[in-house]
Amino acid sequence: MNSSSPILLFDSGVGGLTVLGEVRAALPQAPVIYAADMAGLPYGTKSEAEVAARVAGLLGRMAERYQPRLICIACNTASTIALGMVREVLETPIVGTVPAIKPAAALTETGVFGLLGTEATMRQKYVDDLEHAFAVGKRLLRHGANDLVPLAEAKLRGERVSIDAVAEAAKGLVLQEHGREMDTIVLACTHFPLLEDELREAYGADMRFVHGAEGIARRIASLTEGQDFERSGPDRAITTGELEDFERLAPAFARYGLDRLEKF
Ligand code: DGL
Repeated sequence: MNSSSPILLFDSGVGGLTVLGEVRAALPQAPVIYAADMAGLPYGTKSEAEVAARVAGLLGRMAERYQPRLICIACNTASTIALGMVREVLETPIVGTVPAIKPAAALTETGVFGLLGTEATMRQKYVDDLEHAFAVGKRLLRHGANDLVPLAEAKLRGERVSIDAVAEAAKGLVLQEHGREMDTIVLACTHFPLLEDELREAYGADMRFVHGAEGIARRIASLTEGQDFERSGPDRAITTGELEDFERLAPAFARYGLDRLEKF
C-alpha cells in the first residue's frame, strides 16, 4: 500500500464534510480526497435507478483515477440505495453511511424517535430493515426533508439561513401523530448536522440529535489500522460541477483542511 494513497469521501455536495470532520479527528495524518457530485446534487429527489447509476459510475472512475485505499460514501441517500451494488463492482474497501437508528433507539426515553433524511432515503428497504432489527417496541416517525439540503449548502457558502425556513422544512416530523412525544431525532442525511443549531432552535433545546459520523470514522480507522499515511501534497476537494461555483465554498473546505479545489 502506497502511503500517499488517499481515503476518498464521496457525497452529492458538502454534507460529507460532517463525516470528514470526524475522520480528521481520528486520522489526522490521512491524505483525503473529498469528492462532491455537485452536477448531480440533490440526490434526495432522484429515483433509485438514477442515484445508483451515478454513484456506481462515478466511484468506478474515481477509484481508477485516484487509487484510493478506501472509499467512504458519506451520504445516506447514496449508501442506502447503492452500497451493495458498489461493493459488488469495486475491489476497494467501501464504508457506507447508514441512518443511526440503532443508537437512537437505545437512547430514546419516551420510546418515540424520529428519522429525518431525504425523501429517497425514507423509502429505502435498508431503512425498513434497520427499523425492524433495532426499533422493536419503539415508535419511529419518518420525515423526508429535501428542502434542508439547499439550506445546508447555502450555510456553508456563508449565506444567512433563516430559522423559519429550517423549521418549515423540518416540521413534518412533529406534526405527525405522537410527534410531540419524540425526544430523539436521527439526522439521516449528512447535510443535516451542518444545521444542528437551527434544528435545535426549531425542535426545542431538549431534543437529542444522533448521527453516524463518529462511528463511521471509527470504522475507517479500524479498517486502515497499521497502514502508513503520508501526504504528498495538499488535500483536495473535487467537483463534477463547475469549478467557479465550487470555489465559493473554498473557505468552508479550508476549515476541513481541503486546500486545493479541482474539477473531476
Ligand atoms: N447528503 C446526502 C445524504 O446524506 C443527501 C443530499 C442530497 O439530497 O443530495 O443523504
